[in-house]
Amino acid sequence: MKTIQWFPGHMAKAMRMMEESLKLCDAVLFVLDARVPASSYNARLADMAGGKPVLYLLNKADMADGGADGAAALIKGSGKAVIRSDASSPATLRPLLGAMEALVAGKRERFAQKGTVRPMRFLVAGIPNTGKSTLINLLSGGKKAQVGDRAGVTRAKQWVRCGTLELLDTPGTMPPALADQRLARRLAYVGSINDDILDKEEVALALLEELWEKYPDRLAQRYAIGGGTPLEMYEALCARRGFVLRGGEYDYTRGALALLDDFRKGRLGRVCLDNEEDLKAAGLI
Ligand code: G4P
Repeated sequence: MKTIQWFPGHMAKAMRMMEESLKLCDAVLFVLDARVPASSYNARLADMAGGKPVLYLLNKADMADGGADGAAALIKGSGKAVIRSDASSPATLRPLLGAMEALVAGKRERFAQKGTVRPMRFLVAGIPNTGKSTLINLLSGGKKAQVGDRAGVTRAKQWVRCGTLELLDTPGTMPPALADQRLARRLAYVGSINDDILDKEEVALALLEELWEKYPDRLAQRYAIGGGTPLEMYEALCARRGFVLRGGEYDYTRGALALLDDFRKGRLGRVCLDNEEDLKAAGLI
């Protein structure tokens, strides 16, 4: 499979913007994808946060299986604050606000001792598609930044209030780490890498291989796949779904799109692809 890369210029710009945003904040919500908690981590954010407290969110927990619970326990065991979340559910709000409050309680206390009383400010950060905007919406009750939305008003950085906390209304989007291509591929599966730069057939082959290793029953159930080489499984999927071109050739492109769509929409069930070794390799534990 071809190397998955990020344009260096885009990467530098995203990192610069993150750094600017971080300066304004007291703490960070680092949003990870619970299905790929190690792959969606980028150690540079933790570095950039310096001494600021970080709460790790394993978001999309509703799409992850028990592997994400194990990952959360390991991350907690390494001394980090972590919770699982489903940003699309209002039930997430209370435990999330509680964890955010607990994270900044010490800092709030130190401020109070010096006579400073002001809301603690959070940056919601993470790689693309982990659910940052959805979380900001949930936390702000959907009433974010009307001022900048009016024509003629410059859209500056703004704060949205949630209880006694404030959030920067724009997410801190950062590039994925990608140094480990095994983990980079998993970001391609979950849709955190722009599909335009990916060869979808290659991604589909890799995903089939990994799913067959970890969740063979799912492939058997949905596509009647019974094993074989990744290419044989790919062709079985195309045959099963009727993705055959006029000359009798398989329509590999449609097969890839169907597989990725099924996986991303959770039709292949709840998963967690990263294990303890991956969490270590990514530097998360
Ligand atoms: P981002 O700002 O980090 O880039 O992510 P964003 O909030 O835009 O969320 C990306 C997609 O993930 C959205 O789906 C959003 O609804 C979904 N999402 C976010 N958090 C959760 C969660 O906890 N659970 C589930 N199941 N879904 C979540 P989308 O609008 O359908 O976009 P797309 O992925 O189809 O492009």
